[in-house]
Amino acid sequence: MKTESRLVQWICWLIVITSFFLTGFIIGWFARPTSTDTSHDAGSRRHLREFLDEMRAENIRDHLRKFTRLPHLAGTEQNLQLAEQIKGEWLAYGLDSVEMVPYDVLLSYPNISQPNYISIVDELGNEMFNTSLSEPVPEGYENVSDIVPPYSAFSAQGQPVGDLVYVNYGRTEDFFQLEREMGINVTGKIVIVRYGNIFRGNKVKNAMLHGASGIIMFSDPADYCAPGVQPYPDGWNLPGGGAQRGNVLNLNGAGDPLTPGYPAKEYTYRYNLEEGVGLPKIPVHPIGYHDAIQLLKNMGGDIPPNNWKGALNVSYRIGPGFTDGFSTQKVRMNIHTNNQVTRIYNVIGRLRGAVEPDRYVILGGHRDAWVFGGIDPVTGAAVVHESVRSAGKLLRKGWRPRRSIVFASWDAEEFGLLGSTEWAEENAKVLQERAVAYINADSAIEGMYTLRIDCTPSLHTLVYDITKQVSSPEEGEEGLSLYESWHKRDNWTDDRDAPRISKLGSGSDFEAYFIRLGIAAGRARYTKNRKTERYSSYPVYHSVYETFELVERFYDPSFRKLRAVAQVRGGLIFLLADSQLLPLDASQYAGSLTKYAHTIAQLGQKHPDALVKYGVSFDSLFSAVENFTVAARDFHERLTTLDRTDPIQIRMVNDQLMYLERAFVDPLGLPGRPFYRHVIFAPSSHNKYAGESFPGIYDALFDIEHTANPKEAWDEVRRQISIAAFTVQAAAMTLTPPA
Ligand SMILES: *[C@@H]1O[C@H](CO)[C@@H](O)[C@H](O)[C@H]1NC(C)=O
Ligand SMILES: *[C@@H]1O[C@H](CO)[C@@H](O)[C@H](O)[C@H]1NC(C)=O
Ligand SMILES: *[C@@H]1O[C@H](CO)[C@@H](O)[C@H](O)[C@H]1NC(C)=O
Ligand SMILES: *[C@@H]1O[C@H](CO)[C@@H](O)[C@H](O)[C@H]1NC(C)=O
Ligand SMILES: *[C@@H]1O[C@H](CO)[C@@H](O)[C@H](O)[C@H]1NC(C)=O
Ligand SMILES: *[C@@H]1O[C@H](CO)[C@@H](O)[C@H](O)[C@H]1NC(C)=O
Ligand SMILES: *[C@@H]1O[C@H](CO)[C@@H](O)[C@H](O)[C@H]1NC(C)=O
Ligand SMILES: [Zn+2]
Repeated sequence: MKTESRLVQWICWLIVITSFFLTGFIIGWFARPTSTDTSHDAGSRRHLREFLDEMRAENIRDHLRKFTRLPHLAGTEQNLQLAEQIKGEWLAYGLDSVEMVPYDVLLSYPNISQPNYISIVDELGNEMFNTSLSEPVPEGYENVSDIVPPYSAFSAQGQPVGDLVYVNYGRTEDFFQLEREMGINVTGKIVIVRYGNIFRGNKVKNAMLHGASGIIMFSDPADYCAPGVQPYPDGWNLPGGGAQRGNVLNLNGAGDPLTPGYPAKEYTYRYNLEEGVGLPKIPVHPIGYHDAIQLLKNMGGDIPPNNWKGALNVSYRIGPGFTDGFSTQKVRMNIHTNNQVTRIYNVIGRLRGAVEPDRYVILGGHRDAWVFGGIDPVTGAAVVHESVRSAGKLLRKGWRPRRSIVFASWDAEEFGLLGSTEWAEENAKVLQERAVAYINADSAIEGMYTLRIDCTPSLHTLVYDITKQVSSPEEGEEGLSLYESWHKRDNWTDDRDAPRISKLGSGSDFEAYFIRLGIAAGRARYTKNRKTERYSSYPVYHSVYETFELVERFYDPSFRKLRAVAQVRGGLIFLLADSQLLPLDASQYAGSLTKYAHTIAQLGQKHPDALVKYGVSFDSLFSAVENFTVAARDFHERLTTLDRTDPIQIRMVNDQLMYLERAFVDPLGLPGRPFYRHVIFAPSSHNKYAGESFPGIYDALFDIEHTANPKEAWDEVRRQISIAAFTVQAAAMTLTPPA
């Protein structure tokens, strides 16, 4: 009996000890570095998991709630207080340092005692109709003061009177059609256009170029209401009394209009207002569709083509002026908006890298809002806040990223990307030496359908990688990754079997970093279904109806979509900062260059006779792209045999990867746009929101069939092709091993 139990006891002990040993061995086996080289990345992946899991939907909800109670217009006391609050919380979360960085930039506000509006006047100048002075305030916010009424920031002052001409979206092609096909001259007329399709500043520029004395922009339900959805607060459509605020500058990347190229500090030389960059010379004003009906309903002139018609119960006649019976009436704009140099504040938080503190990965998004900023920008700011909190949590456990991370809360984005551009200007030299990548964090949601990514080609591989580490936020997709969900919903079949990734345009704070300084950049957000949802941006964009409740009731009740976006943005930052080898892919860049070269050559080949006559050829560009492709392939092949234990070797190839984007910068800039210096990508000259590839060649070819001097125009095409070919070849040379 006794010996038997002894034996059992012995066997038990033996089993326990063996299993301990085995477990230890198994753990050791799997945790072992597959070779010494990747041990760091394995640890990094484990920390990545912790970093992503730490981000919570409830926290993002709470940050959004807290930051959207009051308006936070740039240059106001409330926005300074919010900056102080964010600084305090980032320090409490554990960042190494957080500083407030002020600049004095040109902003623009309506005059409280002399409101802006548009009226219909009779022959005696009596006002028969006035547009509304403000939007009906949503329930629960009745007592909030300091809601700025809808206005066009940086509009010229003035009270032009004239006949209206309707020009659809006010795009370049709309004005061409108006002039060339309909034979209407808008000189001295007030132009009325619908919002949507392109950046509003481009509409204003087009109206000015064609001689208009003023421009009115309205939100048409065709562009700002989804079918079957109620207006806010019963749904997420724009109500008839809502209107879109926004700046109407054409800065082309200059930042503060009075200090182009230099940070707007106290000692900085400032231009006069007349010399300011991108300021419109005519009055501009936005209205909602209730007011638009009153202006449009009695218009005379021809009925336009169907693609000029919106969804209002009016005929959308082009004008000029009103129809018989109303033909003595004119329209008058009354605009008293003031430009004013005002102090703004960026909040810059830093987390020092453990191994390469002189390499920076930046996560930046704006804080200023037109009113409450329910979507724009606070869904983005809430996501950054949660990333900082999660990083702080890991720091407390002893983790520190390999490279430094910079978190930025930009001011005055809505007034022309001013805070981010001034900081880029002040830090340009350091950033061009040390910045690895910039991830933008504006609005994290603009629709309820799937993920949207715009980024530089070298980030494609990393984006696919990180989205495979994040779970789908969709109901009924438990177990699916975000990548799988996104792939199913936005299959990029024309390119390859993967989810769609788009080019960067502009319209947010990455612009100076990517297009001026040549820092690899990307952005991520949840978006609408591009195939079925035709409205622009999202219906209540830049109106007073962008509230916390808009997001909580309609866009993301569970806050899981915002969490997924936080994990994508945060994950990108994390892997860029913590991977031993930079996760940038030169071969993806080669693939994109090949595609863009074919696209631009096809555009040129629409004029086969001119190509022959003026001796224009794309051969040098194709040759350079081919050389780049070979250099990129060889570079990545060499990486597979790199000695990962040699820190100098690692640093050498990482520098090549970091500086690759920089190699596409031409210090002379694009023609007429000195701050747009990236030869591969620029905001379209016809729509700042959209990205154009090989923009120098594209602009030289634009409308070339109507040029007055074909020889000169085709010479410029040849010049731009040679600049593009040289730049791509020069970039290829940076990928070769040292000679
Ligand atoms: C605002 O309008 C009032 C009333 O017309 C005028 O006296 C004042 O100078 C204006 N303010 C500015 C800053 O232009
Ligand atoms: C329009 O506003 C002006 C000035 O505020 C006022 O005198 C006029 O009566 C208003 N007209 C209408 C139709 O409301
Ligand atoms: C607004 O202020 C009034 C008067 O002070 C108060 O009775 C009302 O409850 C307030 N409304 C809200 C939504 O706070
Ligand atoms: C439009 O009219 C103005 C003056 O009325 C004239 O100077 C201009 O040349 C005209 N533009 C075109 C394109 O005909
Ligand atoms: C559209 O406007 C016309 C004339 O103003 C009116 O008779 C008609 O009832 C309106 N239709 C709708 C659907 O509102
Ligand atoms: C994407 O489209 C391709 C080609 O049509 C198809 O083979 C593939 O299954 C699709 N992928 C997904 C995830 O739907
Ligand atoms: C591409 O490389 C080949 C071989 O080195 C060279 O002859 C050619 O000039 C290069 N192309 C360009 C555009 O520099
Ligand atoms: Zn924004």
